[in-house]
Amino acid sequence: MIKTKTIFAWKDKESAVSEGAEQLRNGGLVVFPTETVYGLGANAFDAEAVKHIFEAKGRPQDNPLIVHIAAIEQIGDIAAEVSPVARTLMEAFWPGPLSVIMKKSARIPDEVSAGLETVAVRMPGNDLARELIARAGIPVAAPSANTSGKPSPTLARHAYEDLCGKVPLIIDGGPCRVGVESTVVDATGKVPVILRPGDITPGMIREAVGGVRVHDGVMSEMKKDEVCASPGMKYKHYAPQAGVTVFTGDKKEVAKCINFRYHIDSMQGKKAVVLCLDECAGLYAECSILPLGKNAGDAEAALFRVLREIDEQGFDAAYFHAQEEKMGLAVMNRMIRAAGHHIVAAGEEKE
Ligand code: TXA
Ligand code: MG
Repeated sequence: MIKTKTIFAWKDKESAVSEGAEQLRNGGLVVFPTETVYGLGANAFDAEAVKHIFEAKGRPQDNPLIVHIAAIEQIGDIAAEVSPVARTLMEAFWPGPLSVIMKKSARIPDEVSAGLETVAVRMPGNDLARELIARAGIPVAAPSANTSGKPSPTLARHAYEDLCGKVPLIIDGGPCRVGVESTVVDATGKVPVILRPGDITPGMIREAVGGVRVHDGVMSEMKKDEVCASPGMKYKHYAPQAGVTVFTGDKKEVAKCINFRYHIDSMQGKKAVVLCLDECAGLYAECSILPLGKNAGDAEAALFRVLREIDEQGFDAAYFHAQEEKMGLAVMNRMIRAAGHHIVAAGEEKE
């Protein structure tokens, strides 16, 4: 166990940046805010420092990390080759919630890329994150600052709960604006391929580059031993202790199904909760609800906090009323993973 210090960036930004930068330069770990989720950072050129990230998170060794930069010039030390597609994406969306996969340079240790020939790079949209990276003077490898398998942290408190005693410094920058992790795009080919959906949508990428493909693994199940484009896709993710089920289909059919399940749970003494957009709350008048807001942006911002609240409030089961067109691909992808691919097509149940 090590002592974990928290610095509140809104009270003392200078200490947050200077102490954070010093930790990073000395091979230490720092939890820091980004616009997506909190990151657990280490010097991306320091293999030993990066190993500590995997230990603190309990992360599988074969899952590569994203390298964070503060200025476009840093790319030269990280990527061996920047394709025209990568260049266009960087110009269109950085700083912002987009990680671009490129051929890696020899300076990036295998610990960062998990042995792959490629590296994911991103310039975060959060000012404090960029100041910290710039002050440290090195690129920062950072996964989300949660214990592996738990929902990503959108509040410093979440990172504290998972990593207290395992990291020397947490910088609290308040709630993360976006709330889901960056869109991960493979830009090594002619057409960009989305490996993980995020706030930058397929439509936005198509508009910038002229084409886009969403990898099959984004919505379907990958087998544990399957060779896949993005190792992160095969792990059960974001999972609360409670059983989560995703319901898709006609709104009224979904409501019928969920209300029925909820009723059975109550009779059996089980505590259930419904996750839905505000517009559907009226369909669940008799139920406990964790609301996701009005639209995709609200749902992204609320999602990981709500997934943690399912356990914090002691629910045994969570029923997610999916509305893909209104919630977007990023929220659907995270919920399907949280449910371990347990999806019910309402009205078509074969039971
Ligand atoms: O928004 C974010 O991306 C946050 C913040 C902290 O920046 N970071 C984050 O990192 O979500 P992490 O490690 O939790 O997720 C990184 C994802 C994983 O699914 C990993 O498999 C994929 O990116 N990835 C990283 N490098 C890759 C590569 N070279 N090829 C394919 N996938 C890669
Ligand atoms: Mg993660």
